[in-house]
Parts: sequence; C-alpha cells; structure tokens
Amino acid sequence: MRLKDKVAIITGGGQGIGREYALRFCKEGARVVIAEINLENAKKVEKEIVEMGGEALAIKTDVSSENDTQVMAQKTVEKFGKIDILINNAAIYFGLENKPIENITVDEWDRSFAVNVRGAWLCIKAVLPYMKDEGSGRIINISSGTWYMGIPMLLHYGTTKAGIIGLTRCAAREVGGFGINVNAITPGFTTTEASLTMKGTPPGIFEVIAGQTALGRNENAEDLVGTAVFLASDDSAFITGQSIVVDGGWVLD
Ligand SMILES: NC(=O)c1ccc[n+]([C@@H]2O[C@H](COP(=O)([O-])OP(=O)(O)OC[C@H]3O[C@@H](n4cnc5c(N)ncnc54)[C@H](O)[C@@H]3O)[C@@H](O)[C@H]2O)c1
Repeated sequence: MRLKDKVAIITGGGQGIGREYALRFCKEGARVVIAEINLENAKKVEKEIVEMGGEALAIKTDVSSENDTQVMAQKTVEKFGKIDILINNAAIYFGLENKPIENITVDEWDRSFAVNVRGAWLCIKAVLPYMKDEGSGRIINISSGTWYMGIPMLLHYGTTKAGIIGLTRCAAREVGGFGINVNAITPGFTTTEASLTMKGTPPGIFEVIAGQTALGRNENAEDLVGTAVFLASDDSAFITGQSIVVDGGWVLD
C-alpha cells in the first residue's frame, strides 16, 4: 500500500475519473474525502469505499464557494485529523457543449472559471494551513490536453485548464519551503460519461483521437490513477511544479 494512513480530499470524486481516484486511493490505504457538489453521487462512492473495507467521508462542496471549501477542510480534519493530499479534480465538464467563440455566453465563461480555476485556488487556500502545520502535503491539479492541442470549440473550458498550469507552477514555488508539492496531471480525451455525451462533439472523434495517439487507443479513467498515486506518494517527493501528460502519446512536446 503506497498511501497507507494518508488522508486525501478528492474534489468532484462522485463520478468519472474522480471516482476512480477515490477507489484506487482507498485500495492504496488512504482515507478518502469525496468533496462533491452532487452529494448523492458522493455518498454512493463513500458507500463503495466502506464496502471495500476502507474509510471515506462524503461532503457536499461547491468548490467555487469559499465557505464550502473552508467547511470541507474543517470537516476533513475533524473526522481524520489531518490533510495529506488534495486532488483538484472538480470541473465544469459534464454537460459541456462544443460551441464557437461567438456563442459562448459570459455566464458560461464565468462559471467555468469560477469552478475550474477559482475552485482549485479556494481548495488550496482551505487546506494549506493544515498542510503547513504538518510540514508536508501533496496537491494535484487536473488540467487537460485541450489547451495543449489547441482544440477548437471549447475555449471556455480549455482556457481554464491552461490556467491550472499557471496555478500549479506559481503555487509550487510559493509553498515548496513548507514541504508541500504541487503538480498537475494533464489527461487526454478520456472515455467518461461526460466525454461520451458531450454535445456538439464531431462524429467519430474517439476513433480520430485514438489514431493520433502513439499507443493507438482511447484513454480510460483507470489510465490516470497510477500517476495520481505516484504524485501523492513518497516516490515523487522531489517532483514539484510539473505537469505530467497522461494521454497515450497524444500531446508530444
Ligand atoms: N474526461 C476527459 O476526457 C477529461 C480530459 C481532460 C481532463 N479532464 C478533467 O478531469 C476531471 C474529471 O473529468 P470527468 O470526465 O470525470 O468529468 P465529470 O464531469 O464526469 O466529473 C466532474 C465532477 O466534478 C463535480 N463538480 C462539478 N462542479 C463542481 C463544483 N462546483 N464543486 C464540486 N464538484 C463539482 C461533478 O459533480 C462531477 O462529479 C475534470 O477536471 C476534467 O476537466 C477530463
């Protein structure tokens, strides 16, 4: 077990890739907090973890709310005594619509930034005092290959995910002296329900993207969890401020 007795908060852990992080972190010995806007889904994952013999806590959290993120951190410490790991995975992704720049509304743009960027910052802000007290911590921010590849029709989403890289680099340098590592994972187009149901996606896109990857297949949620475990574990102790691209060789730079 690579995360024995660690306490990990996973935002947006109620479905998709976040759920996979939560289940795998439990198998690696971590106690897992699922901080989710969708409490029903978070409770389902909590139940799955308890049935696996692990410990979990579902907390209703809107990551764009400072109050919610503060409560998230407080409740985690009340229940488990500390915070070792934060995965900033929550994002406006399910229900996202491909649309030209001119059709994106100011509300869509602002909500994307409020959740995807402000939310990641607020969660970091909430956990930092506890990590500083411990003199250690691991923060893993989830970016996306969209901005690397310059994917059209998703400007409101892709731009937030480029912001995640800036956030990662600046935060890493600021908190490194406290024993806290901040890194990002950059997934490719992954076959979650959110991707499979995305409105306006060109027909055959999964086959096209599979053909563009070096490994020649589509990415699944399970493909991402090993890197998250690595970045949360002692094996990555001297890595910070980095983005690890996990996409089967779609982005190559
Ligand atoms: N699936 C992909 O192809 C892909 C590719 C690159 C990056 N990503 C990123 O990986 C992460 C997970 O992707 P996914 O496919 O599982 O997406 P998803 O939409 O299925 O999961 C996102 C989760 O975040 C939660 N959430 C949304 N708004 C929230 C808020 N304000 N507060 C708290 N929770 C909130 C949702 O309820 C959901 O459970 C996202 O950050 C996404 O941007 C996904």
